[in-house]
Order: sequence, then C-alpha cells, then structure tokens
Amino acid sequence: MQPPTRNPCSPVMQVDPRHVAPGQEEPMGIVVNGTDVDPPDDPRVSLLDLLRERLQLSGTKKGCDQGACGACTVLVDGERILSCLALAVQYEGRSVTTIEGLGTEGLGTGGALHPLQRAFIEHDGFQCGYCTPGQICSAVGMIGELRRGVPSHVTADLAAAAIPCSRDELRERMSGNLCRCGAHNGIIDAIAETYAETLRAEAAE
Ligand code: FES
Ligand code: FES
Repeated sequence: MQPPTRNPCSPVMQVDPRHVAPGQEEPMGIVVNGTDVDPPDDPRVSLLDLLRERLQLSGTKKGCDQGACGACTVLVDGERILSCLALAVQYEGRSVTTIEGLGTEGLGTGGALHPLQRAFIEHDGFQCGYCTPGQICSAVGMIGELRRGVPSHVTADLAAAAIPCSRDELRERMSGNLCRCGAHNGIIDAIAETYAETLRAEAAE
C-alpha cells in the first residue's frame, strides 16, 4: 500500500494543544511542591516523567515503571499514588508533593528534615537509598489512611474506632514499596517510632 501523500503546497497545520479557544477555560497548572507548573503539552507524559525529566525533581525514582515497586510514590492532595501509572495532565489543579517538598508544604519542619527522614537515618531504614523517597512518601500517605480508619487486609476489627498501629499493619500497608537492599525492618521501625511520637505529641497538647 502506498503511504498517503501530502500536497506540498498545502501548509501543515500546527495545533498548539495549549491553545485556548474563545469561551474555553484556561488550562490549570499542577502545583508541585507549592509551585504552579504547566502541565505537559503531550498528554502521554506520565507524572513521573514530568517530575524527573522536565522539572528535574529526581528524588522520585523510576524502578519498574509499571506499578510494581513503589519507588515512584508521591503524594497528591495528601494521598499516595504511583506516579509512573499516572498521566500528568490528570493532575491539573491538584497539589503534588514529592520527597523534595516534604519540608516545604507544612508536612515537615520548615527546611529541616521531615521527622520520617530523620527516623529513617536513625533506624538504618535504607542502604542504597533508591527506594527511600518512595518509602517515605508512601509512609506519610499511609499514616493518613491509618488515622482516617481505612482498614487493610490484616485489620482484625473493621468496626474499631482506632486501628492499632501494629507491625503487621505497617508491613501490610507498606507492602507496595519494595526495598531490594532488604532494609524493611529498619523502615518499619522508623515509621512505627514516628507515628508513636506524633500521637504522643498530640496527646500532650
Ligand atoms: S516505578 Fe512506579 S511502581 Fe515501580
Ligand atoms: S535501600 Fe536500596 S532498595 Fe531500598
């Protein structure tokens, strides 16, 4: 079959995907770590590639690029998601927090390390560090789920007012984040201690 030919006299129409027609709403930006950024022109760009390749936020890691390892976990409006499985344009108007932003959006201590980052260091929660940004973002989102009473596969009492933060709960809830260095015990220790400290601080207020 012959490839389609084009009349060399007819101009190729260049369509700007960001073009706003009269009466059409302006596309919204994506708020990344508190800064408004333009969504990509190409709707096929994943949120992970937007962060790493276009915004140079290389803290978020690409492991499997198919939703199996958790290395690419970021927070969207406080919820953890896998950025390799997300199209960036889906997140227009949403607030994305990466590991670089944990200390700058009120989740941390204003420029200092986030308490979970400190706990990971104290408990040897990493070796090569490749999985660490995803582990920490995932843990922040996971603690929010725990506090909202979202049950997991191992929650014994679905009617309980508060879900106990047992090691089994933490292991199950963090099972989507793999560590090839085998630092899982330190990771769970770091999360458990940080969560317990948060509860103690709140009780003392
Ligand atoms: S890189 Fe996204 S889950 Fe592995
Ligand atoms: S610290 Fe190396 S993969 Fe987790």
